[in-house]
Amino acid sequence: FLDFFEKRGHSIIPSASLIPENDPSVLFTTAGMQPLVPYLLGEKHPNGTRLANSQKCIRTQDIDDVGDNTHDTFFEMLGNWSLGDYFKKEAIEWSYEFLTSPTEGLGLNPERLFVTCFEGDTNAPQDLESAEIWRNIFNKNNVKGERIYFRSAKSNWWPQPKENDEYSGPTGPDTEMFYDLTGQFTKGMTPEEYVKADDSQEIVEVWNDVFMEYLKKDGKVIGKLERKNVDTGSGFERLVMAVQGKTNIFDTDLFSPLIDVIRKNARNQNIRSERIVADHIRTANFIIADGIVPSNTDRGYIL
Ligand code: ALA
Repeated sequence: FLDFFEKRGHSIIPSASLIPENDPSVLFTTAGMQPLVPYLLGEKHPNGTRLANSQKCIRTQDIDDVGDNTHDTFFEMLGNWSLGDYFKKEAIEWSYEFLTSPTEGLGLNPERLFVTCFEGDTNAPQDLESAEIWRNIFNKNNVKGERIYFRSAKSNWWPQPKENDEYSGPTGPDTEMFYDLTGQFTKGMTPEEYVKADDSQEIVEVWNDVFMEYLKKDGKVIGKLERKNVDTGSGFERLVMAVQGKTNIFDTDLFSPLIDVIRKNARNQNIRSERIVADHIRTANFIIADGIVPSNTDRGYIL
């Protein structure tokens, strides 16, 4: 991933700490864009206008989902950014190329790919441009069937709007890519089938390209940013799962050695519990490695 984007003019930057440096509103870094907010708002980044990295992330809000096929509280987010440089066309074409090219990228089967685009609301219009870019890519590569869907801000806006949203910062619609883990949908899906396959985790989101051209204050879009940015995020563990042909992240070689130890030492076998213990051990290690000790408040409490 890093080589791919370096070859396309990106400067590779290190992962920031899990402990946010300039943001008291969050306990942990939850996305690759978080340490880059000042630059997404217009400050000049010393490494230029094209960046990529693998960012350590913790999402405690996913803790109740850990144990299913695809959620973990600690994960690595692969990301590439354009700070007022390229926009939708390059970002989407590179995502597709990295996922599907056998020589430049992962060589995943494009017939297993499905994408969503923003359907539009009072904040921003329907993202017909992204859909058109996807349509051209699929046509050019002879990938047939219905595989582009329009969705509301609940799924296709970053950050996801909350009830009583208080978010202030760069924001925008996104296009999400899903991979069919089962291989049974290669001919395409109706929108209803897509929703069902997503709910049952037969398809899983592997990448999100956010087109950050708006500014929010206290949860409301108040205007456009000085320049258009791209913020992407792809879950490393989920990509490994797709590449290794697994149907859950815990069967990949990122987790299986840990799962083996847990299984060997457990009195009873319970797959969900094994996964939870494996995830929590990994997360705790990364929190400790970034300097936190157990306590009864804040980050130490999470640990
Ligand atoms: N910031 C976007 C996300 O986390 C890429 O999904």
